[in-house]
Amino acid sequence: MRTDEVQGFVDRHVGERGGLISILEDMQARYGYLPADVLRAVAERTGQSLTDVYGVATFYKSFSLKPRGKHLCSVCVGTACHVRRAPMVAREVERRLGIRPGDTTADREFTLETVNCLGACALGPIVVVDGHYFSAVTTGKVKDILEQTRAGLDRVDVKTDRRIFPVTVSCSRCNHSLMDAAHPIDGSPSIRVTVSFKRHHGWLRLSSLYGSYTLECEYEIPMDAVVDFFCPHCHADLKSAAGCPECGAPMVAMIVRAGGIVQVCSRRGCKGHMLDLNGSGF
Ligand code: FES
Repeated sequence: MRTDEVQGFVDRHVGERGGLISILEDMQARYGYLPADVLRAVAERTGQSLTDVYGVATFYKSFSLKPRGKHLCSVCVGTACHVRRAPMVAREVERRLGIRPGDTTADREFTLETVNCLGACALGPIVVVDGHYFSAVTTGKVKDILEQTRAGLDRVDVKTDRRIFPVTVSCSRCNHSLMDAAHPIDGSPSIRVTVSFKRHHGWLRLSSLYGSYTLECEYEIPMDAVVDFFCPHCHADLKSAAGCPECGAPMVAMIVRAGGIVQVCSRRGCKGHMLDLNGSGF
């Protein structure tokens, strides 16, 4: 019985900071969603109120109270995307998948949702599939996006993939450029910052192609470790006030030279990121 399994998840994270989030993450991975009986069992076994458990389960978008498909497809229908024909894109996705927003396909491959703004208005209409941003989507591109998803979105060809676009960034505190043309990644100048984890302190280079997760680091960072990011020029902490929409870890903010803010999750391996090309503050 699945409520009996809950004790195992609770024991694994007992005493951890943010342990409730980790318990729910494990259960979301196990069941694909957070069933009501499981949430009640978590509240009972952790001693937290059901209201608190439910609050966390509904706060983060990575959690779902309904069974979800293998792939989450979010179509932005916010104002900026709307005026660029996002409703037609949404209808085309609905037509091809045969479901309405909020529903999951019968083969449990896709869950479709519409959202009101993904912070990349200048590039709309935006469609996000499993955390991968597709910009300037038209009805004609929908078929390719869905086929690409079925084939495996993690296989990215940075030369031809339409999700990939370059950003030039600077420190959110001293405004010094963070670009490192001498050490390209994915064929473009990398973004260089300083990171610190436990007693390690060294450089980290990220791909400047938004949508690519390629990075190089002076030392090995274990998966799931949360790392502190600093500007290599003024040494300011680059952490922003925002929490990662995927895992809750602190986000790291950088200014986009063309205007706006890009934020990436400070947890190794998490693909949480946000791009707000209209943003001006943290
Ligand atoms: S309205 Fe679609 S990204 Fe902002």
